[in-house]
Amino acid sequence: MYRSHNCGELNATHINTEVTLAGWVQKSRDKGFMNWVDLRDRYGITQLIFDESRSEKSVFELAKTLGREFVIQVKGSVIEREAKNKNMATGDIEILVTELTVLNAALTPPFTIEDETDGGEDIRMKYRYLDIRRNPVKNNLLFRHKVAMEVRKYLSDLDFCEVETPYLIKSTPEGARDFVVPSRMNEGQFYALPQSPQTFKQLLMVGGMDKYFQIVKCFRDEDLRADRQPEFTQIDCEMAFVEQEDILNVFEGLTRHLLKEIKGIEVDKFPRITYDYAMKTYGNDKPDIRFGMEFGELNEVAQHQEFTVFNAAELVVGIAVPGVGNYTRKEIDGLIDWVKRPQVGASGMVYVKCNEDGSYKSSVDKFYDQNDLTHWAKITGAKVGDMIFVLSGPADKTRTQLSALRMELATRLGLRNPAEFAPLWVVDFPLLEFEEESGRYHAMHHPFTSPKPEDMHLLETDPGKVRANAYDMVLNGNEIGGGSIRIHDKATQQLMFKYLGFTEEEAKAQFGFLMDAFQFGAPPHGGLAFGLDRLVAILGGQETIRDFIAFPKNNSGRDVMIDAPSIIAESQLKELHIKLA
Ligand code: AMO
Repeated sequence: MYRSHNCGELNATHINTEVTLAGWVQKSRDKGFMNWVDLRDRYGITQLIFDESRSEKSVFELAKTLGREFVIQVKGSVIEREAKNKNMATGDIEILVTELTVLNAALTPPFTIEDETDGGEDIRMKYRYLDIRRNPVKNNLLFRHKVAMEVRKYLSDLDFCEVETPYLIKSTPEGARDFVVPSRMNEGQFYALPQSPQTFKQLLMVGGMDKYFQIVKCFRDEDLRADRQPEFTQIDCEMAFVEQEDILNVFEGLTRHLLKEIKGIEVDKFPRITYDYAMKTYGNDKPDIRFGMEFGELNEVAQHQEFTVFNAAELVVGIAVPGVGNYTRKEIDGLIDWVKRPQVGASGMVYVKCNEDGSYKSSVDKFYDQNDLTHWAKITGAKVGDMIFVLSGPADKTRTQLSALRMELATRLGLRNPAEFAPLWVVDFPLLEFEEESGRYHAMHHPFTSPKPEDMHLLETDPGKVRANAYDMVLNGNEIGGGSIRIHDKATQQLMFKYLGFTEEEAKAQFGFLMDAFQFGAPPHGGLAFGLDRLVAILGGQETIRDFIAFPKNNSGRDVMIDAPSIIAESQLKELHIKLA
């Protein structure tokens, strides 16, 4: 037996108990005749004491040789501490050690294994196993486990069945590039790693599984960001004989359950807004609704004067930023520079200060009088002490720019409180999206999403206007899940592939299996997938998913610990029939 207890559980009730503990040396303090060692394991830290007068000489001397992160086993008795530490679960006791075994020596770690470490991101990634010993990373992994367990419990209780789907598949177009795997046995042919189990879960519905879920790895070769990893995990779900309403209810229930169980927070019914409303009101299809600053469209009240910039614009739109009416000229100029950065791309910005005396002072006083500005304030909801910022230009671009400013200011003003949770559904997404690059429409969600029956007639004439039975769940400004009601008949699916620019042969070659299946009694079905990494990170009050993944990739898609990707041996390439140029 390596241990009778763990390092986090002993307290005053254990005094005089003989115990065996094992763990890592966090630190030791050698006072000459007395030596204290903090012993750490996953559960906590327990103080050990080696005392010249009370410990055996060999044990006492061996203790002096212990370095940081040595793995040791000790036997001893629990005694009351003289100087108690109220901040530690085990702070009332210590272990007077009688036996000490060094299970393994350790090199000095390249960074301190403390909550606040001296190690930078790169070095911690290289030695991720050491980073995992630190509380912040360890706790994130435990937290992730807890969320995953709650998900499994909740869905299993509702008769969802977890089914594994294959990882070596054929490409499913979800908008990103595939990672591919060469086949040794089929020369010149490749598997693709799934971007999601989309087609398989639909086939499970044809197979009568009725309610499916899977906590599953997905792979997408796309540019990385704080909320994106090349391999990430979905809580992937599908249900048969359902309408959109059924799906929203089930997964709203799941999310509400998680918020309650994990965060102790009860939330009301989630608001539902349409994609169009989200774009008009927040300039964004994943709005953070923890704070206001909703867009006010000012065309009608700003295009009647001689200000040509506004007059020429498709959209004039503003937000009222609370309590910053006293920004200095320098602060305002800083913000104007911020929106003019290429990443945001605005050409300029107009501001209106809402003075304490109820008057207004704007950067366009030459063109607009107090009466005009009163209208602007009314439409943007500005109050005394606020500042209105106004952008203008092409509608879509301007909305995106103002959305970036809205989020930036909310962050700077501390309005994005990580302890507050504001989930919502965004529904009625467009079915198709026009892609400038290729000059054609492509599926906004994926090609299996069903159009709203009442919009079907627009497919020929105005494809961009067709709405889909597609929805996203948004939490604190992050898309944490998305899904749709699917097409379940061959004719509609064939039609969709046609609109997406597939020839009949291409559609058959790529998705023949799905259309074949639809001919054998496919039930109406739909589903969604949550991004588990994102969900866990946001529930944990953060937005960087890397911190909640045991072994993440860096921003160049590399695992710097194992040094992957890497070149492979000539013989391996040969076996795979691959010739490098
Ligand atoms: P979608 O592509 O919207 O839908 O993905 C579902 C959710 O997965 C998360 N996600 C990611 N998380 C981390 N890193 C990434 N690279 C990444 N990409 C996506 C997001 C997203 O909301 N098959 C459909 C679902 C369906 O229709 O049922 C799908 O995959 O949180």
